[in-house]
Amino acid sequence: MDGSADIQDDDTVSSGAGDLLRTALARSNAPLDRAGTLPPAAYTSAAFYRLEVERIFRKQWLAIGHVSQLPKVGDYFSIDLLGEMIVAVRARDRIRALSRICLHRWAPLVEGAGNTRRFSCPFHKWAYDLDGRLLGAPLMEQVEFDASSLCLPEYRIEIVDGFIYLNFSRDAEPLAPQLSDLSTALAKWAPQDWVIGATLEYDCAINWKIVVETFMECYHHIAAHPETFERAFPARITYVEDGRPAWTVGHAPLRADLPDEQASAGFPDLGEMTREERREFRLYLIYPYQLFNMLPDRTFWVCLQPEGPARTRFQTHIMVKREALERPDYEDRMAAERRFLSTVNDEDIAVNVMQQLGAATRAAEAGRFSHLEKALWQFADYVRERLKA
Ligand code: FES
Ligand SMILES: [Fe+2]
Repeated sequence: MDGSADIQDDDTVSSGAGDLLRTALARSNAPLDRAGTLPPAAYTSAAFYRLEVERIFRKQWLAIGHVSQLPKVGDYFSIDLLGEMIVAVRARDRIRALSRICLHRWAPLVEGAGNTRRFSCPFHKWAYDLDGRLLGAPLMEQVEFDASSLCLPEYRIEIVDGFIYLNFSRDAEPLAPQLSDLSTALAKWAPQDWVIGATLEYDCAINWKIVVETFMECYHHIAAHPETFERAFPARITYVEDGRPAWTVGHAPLRADLPDEQASAGFPDLGEMTREERREFRLYLIYPYQLFNMLPDRTFWVCLQPEGPARTRFQTHIMVKREALERPDYEDRMAAERRFLSTVNDEDIAVNVMQQLGAATRAAEAGRFSHLEKALWQFADYVRERLKA
């Protein structure tokens, strides 16, 4: 985002976001059969986005990675989130999330992912241990300086079901108890043992809520995914469970006349499946934006980073059980699955980018939900509740 636009907007934050917030809150808790979307400006306004940053993103648990990305001591990956430059690293004792900005004059210590014994600043070579402690700073002997007391700022993280969540707030309630029912349900598929088989990266001119909402409704299969999804997983028979405070789940069953194998891509099953589980995909949303959908043998996980009212970066990862990697046909199957995911994502993004532009028009007003958009209705209430705080 362009910083100047942000600054100009500052004067109008309280009034602009205030009016919008009142409009957004007006429909709180309307029953689904009378409920509508948040106002379109909630997807385009810089003031509204800043409220979300303050009241949602800076307080809630945000998924940033998965333990399989850091199998060995010294493994790290960089992530930029809400303007912070962070490195997640497997230190000698545990996984940590540290600021990756040098304590000297703020150069980022690393970019991307890799394995290292220490972080050495590319600017003047200050060196940091994997736990963030400053190990040494060359040519600093002639000034009063105690390297041993310095450490990179560390963020609070929690690992739940293999996913790494970060929280910018010191006071946030722990996440694991909020997800205990989900963890119990997922346990037989051992999500902590999944590995990433392929990743697709996106940086799109869309609001973060649009990514969440499109992921969580199958209504759009009928128009946006006629070949990729509608044939096998028709919108009409999809449904969403009743809401829970921290997460929700939707189900997209396989068309009744298709064989079980249609739901699988030929990888080993993630774990034990009931007949029903084998014949559907499930879409999970852990608020505010952790998204993954599970098929019998693979999971599509969307890791997103909001960048502004009309910009979101996200990675879609295909995750499989570790054993899948040993199968002789693994590479071919994963390449095919990657192509499939790329097609599906393109179908979604094409319509989402146009939707974002539509939301910014003066004629745009809040729309009405279908019963198939129950997860969006739940999500809108989650957003409203957090913004009230
Ligand atoms: S900025 Fe890192 S050592 Fe100077
Ligand atoms: Fe879609």
